Amino acid sequence: MSEETRRQERTPVLQMVVFGVVATAAGIALGLAIDWFPTQGSTQAKPIDDLYDLMIYVSVPVFVLVTVVVLFSVWKFHMRPGEENLDGPPIHGNTRLEVIWTALPAILLVALCSWAYVVMTDIEEAQANEMRIDVIGQQFAWSYEYPQAGGKPVRSNILYIAQGQPVRFNVKALDVLHDFWVPAFRMKIDAVPGISTRYRVTPNRLGTYPVVCAELCGLGHSVMRSTVKVVPKAEFDKWIAEQKAGGAPPAAEGGEAAGGGDAEAQIDAKTLFAEGTSEATACGACHTLADAGTSSQTGPELDKSLKGKDEAYIRAGIEDPDAEVAAGFQAGIMPKNYGDTLSPEELDALVEYLGKVAGK
Ligand code: CUA
Repeated sequence: MSEETRRQERTPVLQMVVFGVVATAAGIALGLAIDWFPTQGSTQAKPIDDLYDLMIYVSVPVFVLVTVVVLFSVWKFHMRPGEENLDGPPIHGNTRLEVIWTALPAILLVALCSWAYVVMTDIEEAQANEMRIDVIGQQFAWSYEYPQAGGKPVRSNILYIAQGQPVRFNVKALDVLHDFWVPAFRMKIDAVPGISTRYRVTPNRLGTYPVVCAELCGLGHSVMRSTVKVVPKAEFDKWIAEQKAGGAPPAAEGGEAAGGGDAEAQIDAKTLFAEGTSEATACGACHTLADAGTSSQTGPELDKSLKGKDEAYIRAGIEDPDAEVAAGFQAGIMPKNYGDTLSPEELDALVEYLGKVAGK
């Protein structure tokens, strides 16, 4: 091979390497510049995000390398006019190259798996003072139970946790597969009928974060959401104590009406409808009702479907939603537990309100 041909062969490879290095640097910079994640709300979040960053450092160069070689070869070595009948050079493979491109990915994969394994065992380690919270998924709502020694568990539809308190979630499903996901905690796990699954987190940042169902579970899957409130320890203890005592109705949060008077008169049914309570998901999350200003189309439009109906019909529709299902909708979408999660007074107020604004 003459000097001249060698130089001709080296130049494209050099160009390719230069282009590859530039593209890799740009790819990594872009990958790290993009803000991929929500707030880090648990001690588990940072090691997981770091693992993700490491994946970017490693996988972007591999992706860029493969892409650059393919595109470069297409551009530099494609057939030109007049070459239709030419054979390419006889190539019999290159053992050294094959060893490299087999060994290198193998080493990378083993290293990444080892790191991931270390992070996983680390964040899943049991904590001495952890608190158990039972998470119950059903079409299409989450509820939470806080077991109490020697008493009934405290139930809530909002997940309250104390900041810094390690928690072990025991996750169950009452009907079909769901998936309990709190993006701010970075953790998710399937809720599987018949068994109990679990994960651990230690929330370390005060705030309110969404809880999402991450497993397609039916028509209401997209509205199967809930809220987690990470509050200071003292506030959490006060909340649990209130709930154990039979509790101020959570709907009255921030504005407990001064004692006495008729409980029913104190319930603002319109707000109850539009915002729900810590126990019960808001009706307005799924139903359109002009008077309450809600507009979701997941369930029947109540201004139409309740027209001319009496209070007994409305009450039955809330307590046993599948007994009679509106045309165009399927059974099993509306949670069946409103009879339990609403207090009798709340239920009365809601029925009366709906009869007034939609029934007539
Ligand atoms: Cu429950 Cu999706």
